[in-house]
Order: sequence, then C-alpha cells, then structure tokens
Amino acid sequence: MAAAVVPFLPTLAEEKTLRASFIRDEDERPKVPYNQFSSDIPVISLASIDEKEDKGTGSPKRRDLCRKIVEACEEWGIFQVVDHGVDSGLIADMTRLSKEFFALPPQEKLRFDMSGGKKGGFIVSSHLQGEAVQDWREIVTYFSYPVRVRDYSRWPDKPEGWPGVVEAYSEQLMGLACKLLGVLSEAMGLETEALTKACVDMDQKVVVNYYPKCPQPDLTLGLKRHTDPGTITLLLQDQVGGLQATKDGGKTWITVQPVEGAFVVNLGDHGHFLSNGRFKNADHQAVVNSNCSRLSIATFQNPAPEAIVYPLAIREGEKAVLDKPITFAEMYRMKMSRDLELAKLKKEVK
Ligand code: SIN
Ligand code: FE2
Repeated sequence: MAAAVVPFLPTLAEEKTLRASFIRDEDERPKVPYNQFSSDIPVISLASIDEKEDKGTGSPKRRDLCRKIVEACEEWGIFQVVDHGVDSGLIADMTRLSKEFFALPPQEKLRFDMSGGKKGGFIVSSHLQGEAVQDWREIVTYFSYPVRVRDYSRWPDKPEGWPGVVEAYSEQLMGLACKLLGVLSEAMGLETEALTKACVDMDQKVVVNYYPKCPQPDLTLGLKRHTDPGTITLLLQDQVGGLQATKDGGKTWITVQPVEGAFVVNLGDHGHFLSNGRFKNADHQAVVNSNCSRLSIATFQNPAPEAIVYPLAIREGEKAVLDKPITFAEMYRMKMSRDLELAKLKKEVK
C-alpha cells in the first residue's frame, strides 16, 4: 500500500492530530506541566537601577539591586525583572498586535514566509528543514538593530501600526538590556560599558513565538531545550505558562511563574563566556498545552558577528573557559553544527 500523503498544512492551528514528526523521544518530553508554577526564579525590582549618588557611584539601594542581579546570574542565569521602565502601553500594544497577526488567515501570514532562507518574517517551525523533530510553534522575526540592517520589506505590515510599535519596543528594550549589561560589567570589576562595547555594534532580533493549542502536548515541545547563543535575552510572556528552566545542575525542570508585565532575563552563551563562566547560560525550553494558545516575545541582544568571544575578566585562580578568542560568528557556527550533528545522530539511531 502506498504511504499516506500528508497534506500541506500551512499553519499549526490546522493540525488536528500530532504528526510523528513532532513526537519527541521519551527523555526529551515534558516532565512538569505547563501550569505547575515554581517561584524559585528570582523576581527583581529595577526601581533603583538609575539611582546615582553625588560622586557618580550607585546609591545603597542600587548596590543592593546589583547584588541581587549578580547572584541570580551566578545561580540561575535566569531571573525576572519588574519596575523595568518599559512603557506598559507599548507592552500591551506589542502583545495585542502579535496576537492579531497570528489570528490572520494563513495566506496573509505566509506573505512574509521565511522558509526560503529570507531574513525576517513569518515561519511555521514544521516548515524548517534539518530538524530531527519539529517544534510546535510559529514565529515572526524582526531584525531590529543595528538600524542599518532593518529590511522593512520583511517586517509584517499587518495588523496596521505594528512596525511602528516594534520600532519603539525595540528601542526601549535595547536601553533596558544595556542597563543590565552595565550592572554585570561593574560586577566583573570593569567599566559600565564593557559588555556593550564587547558586542561591538549590538545586534537585536525580536522573535514573537506563538504556540497554538496542541492535541498531544505530553509528547512534544513548543521549543526544544537550548541555551541562547547571544549576550542577554529579554522575554515577555503571557499568563498561560510554558517557559521551563532547569535547576540542580540540569536534573530538575521547573515552570517559570508568569508575572504580569515582567521580563524574563536570561544570559546566553556569549554572556557566559565573557564572564568566564561566572554567569550561567540558562538552559530552557517551552512546553505547550491542549487548553489554550500561548504567546511570548523574545528580544535577543547579540554581539556583532565579528565581535570577539573571550573572557573579559578572569578571576584569580581561574583558567579561561575558552582556549583562544573566536568570533561570535564562529561560535555560532560551532554551536549550530554540533546541534545538527546531534540531530542527525538521533535520526540515524531511530
Ligand atoms: C525562547 O527561548 O526563545 C522562548 C521561550 C518561551 O517561549 O518561553
Ligand atoms: Fe531561548
């Protein structure tokens, strides 16, 4: 008998059963439900982050705040921030417009299809090639910094007003990321701008993730386990839940408690290497559910491709975590080829 032909399903919302290509091996499947929240991950108020004293040094409150951020980076590599100064109206607009985009008919979304290798636009993860198992998510990506890389022809123009909101949002998040990197630079005993300078000309990419309701969420993932490659990521998530991080050296998964209006901050590989491993690059994944869809918006702050990846500060008695300086482009290529090899290996042993 001829194999059943799988019809081309343009978006995940049309998938009524879970196809085999989404089914993960037992060891990769979710261990903890999407809505069994943990409050282990620190929630930090940034209200005093700009408080300076006469001589330009931080106020006692700012010093206390910096200490909390540094501890969270050392212990978790992931934490949440509130009182961050990003305009709440902008956050609401960004969330509303993102939801409206994903509710558009498939043919409208596919006007910005990235599957041919285009930079920026819309993609259904099941249209991606080369993955051993597919993630249950659809995304929209905006390349927002440096400003010269903005290709507005790849920025979805619907719903109306979205590109303007993305621009304003990107700018405010760039500001927030630089402040956080300033705190981490100071903690390394360096000038406040050290980490942003090490990024050369900081790249920023906004990825809006939409995880539709899933018929069999226990067998699949919205986004597989990974660390982010860049310096720092700021994630806005709705109140549904689904972001999971590890604790106890990667042995236990926890679901991050959604906090209204907060950003989840995680350190990526670049931040980890530049701190000589002192700050963790948080291992995380996204799980899905059968009750409702979920939206998250990740803003990735990455170094320029030519930026050098090497520890900026090596503490006494420590060895450098890298043998030699490499460029971020090389670091990224190595990470991707290792992931691809692992994916191939999994396919072969199946
Ligand atoms: C990400 O890791 O980029 C997104 C995670 C999430 O959607 O919670
Ligand atoms: Fe991530």
